[in-house]
Amino acid sequence: MAAPFTDAEIETIRAATPGCRDELIHLNHAGSSLPAQTVLDAQIEHLQREATIGGYEAAAATAAEREQTYESIAALLGAKRNEIARFEHATAAWSAAFWSIPMQPGQAIITHDHDYGANAVAMLHAAATRGVRIVRVPSDAVGQIDLAALAAALDDPDGVALVSLAWIPTNGGLVNPAAAVGALTRAAGVPFLLDACQAVGQLVIDVDTIGCDFLSGTGRKYLRGPRGTGFLYVRESILDRVVPSHPDHHSAEWTTLDTYTFEPGATRFEYWEFSHANWLGLGAAVDVALDLGVDRIQTAIARRAKDLRAGLSGIGMEVHDEGIARCGIVTATHPTLASDVVQARLAEQRINTSVTHVGSSRADVERRDLAPMLRLSAHCTTTAAEVDHVCSTLAEL
Ligand SMILES: Cc1ncc(COP(=O)(O)O)c(C=O)c1O
Repeated sequence: MAAPFTDAEIETIRAATPGCRDELIHLNHAGSSLPAQTVLDAQIEHLQREATIGGYEAAAATAAEREQTYESIAALLGAKRNEIARFEHATAAWSAAFWSIPMQPGQAIITHDHDYGANAVAMLHAAATRGVRIVRVPSDAVGQIDLAALAAALDDPDGVALVSLAWIPTNGGLVNPAAAVGALTRAAGVPFLLDACQAVGQLVIDVDTIGCDFLSGTGRKYLRGPRGTGFLYVRESILDRVVPSHPDHHSAEWTTLDTYTFEPGATRFEYWEFSHANWLGLGAAVDVALDLGVDRIQTAIARRAKDLRAGLSGIGMEVHDEGIARCGIVTATHPTLASDVVQARLAEQRINTSVTHVGSSRADVERRDLAPMLRLSAHCTTTAAEVDHVCSTLAEL
């Protein structure tokens, strides 16, 4: 495990982040985190460039910087540049992958209890329109995907269209064993689509170690990038097995009046138009994470979240997190007050948190019969003093 940041290092990271102020405690990094000043600068500079010289001219002037965003994301994931596609958010990236995978009536889409709402609805739509079956692999005794049940579900690989997994679910503190799932999907030869929305920027990622064929990510959460950014990793070797569902004249070349040819690599999943300012901001955010060291960020987040869980339990809150490996997302309920009331009271004291919503994780909510929970998500910018202050504020409610 990498060394956590020292207090002095945390202060330096906070000083470079305009939202880290004494009068605000932000524990909503799993919703949308606080970008560093360099991220903001990259966005604002480009917006000014567009406004003063024209959007297309500004694009021509920043081709190398845009390309660098792809390179940085590839470095973050242990991937190649041509395996990265740009998107506006994780759901767009996940959907582009999902709807490109061939599905035959009767085939199974294998997933887990902790699926994110957007992905679950897409699967239901695939069941309704393509005749596939949804197979939800149950959680094991500690709450992570039951690997023995997954292996059994992959017994007849021809009957399976894909395996989809939320690496870090939207609530519950869990880190699913993605690499163990990848080992099973690789052995079965079944496409593996990994939702890494809450993992990018929080966990060390190597797509070859995991063995996923697709990985979707967002910019605004643990990467501390701009809202409205995301990306998709597409393994080179899966390209000839999948077909993008919504090509345009950027993802494919219009070669003759009646023909088109997909671009090589992950570009075939992209659309032409996007926010150049945001994409440059995302590149700056990834570079901040790479410079700090994702291994150290991971250690720092896990430690702070562990302290937060202990602090919450100590004041009588019930912590609902699962799994062996746990992340920066902490979910808990107050013994007497509803979570939305607790959230509002904390907001009055300038403490940002969120409340879980059944539509984001219905399968998990129904399985565990969960009431809406307070979600407090820590990052490497979170200090020990902030954790103490939040716990004492909660104790006084
Ligand atoms: C696990 C998970 N997957 C996917 C998403 C969707 O991300 P986005 O809103 O960037 O599309 C979220 C958002 O909270 C999430 O928590």
